[in-house]
Amino acid sequence: MYALEINNVEKIYSNGHKALDNINLKVNQGDFIGLLGVNGAGKTSLISSISGINSFKGSISVMGHDVITDVVKAKLNLGVVPQELAFDPFLTVAKTLKFQSGLYGVKNNQSWLDELISRMHLDDKVNANTRALSGGMKRRLMVAQALVHKPSVIILDEPTVGVDVEIRKNIWEFIEELHKKGHTILLTTHYLEEVERLCNKIVMIDKGKIITESSKEDLINNTSSLPSSLDVDISGGDLLPEIADIVMSKTDSRVKFKIENSEQIVMILNKLVANGVKIENIHVNKPNLEDIFLQYLRR
Ligand SMILES: Nc1ncnc2c1ncn2[C@@H]1O[C@H](COP(=O)(O)OP(=O)(O)O)[C@@H](O)[C@H]1O
Ligand SMILES: [Mg+2]
Repeated sequence: MYALEINNVEKIYSNGHKALDNINLKVNQGDFIGLLGVNGAGKTSLISSISGINSFKGSISVMGHDVITDVVKAKLNLGVVPQELAFDPFLTVAKTLKFQSGLYGVKNNQSWLDELISRMHLDDKVNANTRALSGGMKRRLMVAQALVHKPSVIILDEPTVGVDVEIRKNIWEFIEELHKKGHTILLTTHYLEEVERLCNKIVMIDKGKIITESSKEDLINNTSSLPSSLDVDISGGDLLPEIADIVMSKTDSRVKFKIENSEQIVMILNKLVANGVKIENIHVNKPNLEDIFLQYLRR
């Protein structure tokens, strides 16, 4: 059984805009998926379809439960942190989480709610009304709210927007921990370093279509054709004209070369040495997920 199964999903908004164009995706239990795409690619439309906010054509199931025909069981298995901040402004933080638990028929979960409150650093806000929270605090409350029923599948739509560095780190840590406990995670974020660190699978969408779907390892290993760069710390000597055209940047002590293959590294170092340049240190920079993502978008 898949954690998430999406078949032939199409979403056309009432203004005629096709935001999702035949999306097919199968997510294994325990996967940590990074869903990448530029603004307007369709990420939120897809997540809203999974969570039942959007109507759509096709079928979606969560842990084997169809989100339309078996909605209660699907919802019990799903926790979504939506991109848009929305709360009942008259409830306190504590009441918001209690109320949300009630919606899922979960009782006697106070110790889990306390843990969520503490992990999201909302301890001193438990009795504050949600309208009195800052944007970052609201975001953290939304994460807590999505998890009251300990759903097996957790979807986070840009969960760290507007959140300070320190707390952002805490949120990533918490998500990582949930994944290690066996939860399936689907994450969209602009923090690609975090995606690269946390996710095991990457799905890229553009203009409502999946443009690539791959394990993180394959994606990174199969892009050896992408240029990387070589930093050389130098002293003395002169750069030869024939390698000057692959210089990306240069200071007195460091030159950055653009390299297409490893033979080029040897060539560059040889030429530098032959020209009396003293090499103090070298560092090869591999293409990262951001480079790869940009390359896919350009195709
Ligand atoms: N309610 C709506 N009505 C019409 N068009 C919409 C609506 N919501 C989103 N869109 C359009 O659908 C496309 C995908 O949007 P969205 O799913 O929010 O993208 P993302 O989350 O990847 O930034 C965009 O072109 C957006 O303008
Ligand atoms: Mg979005």
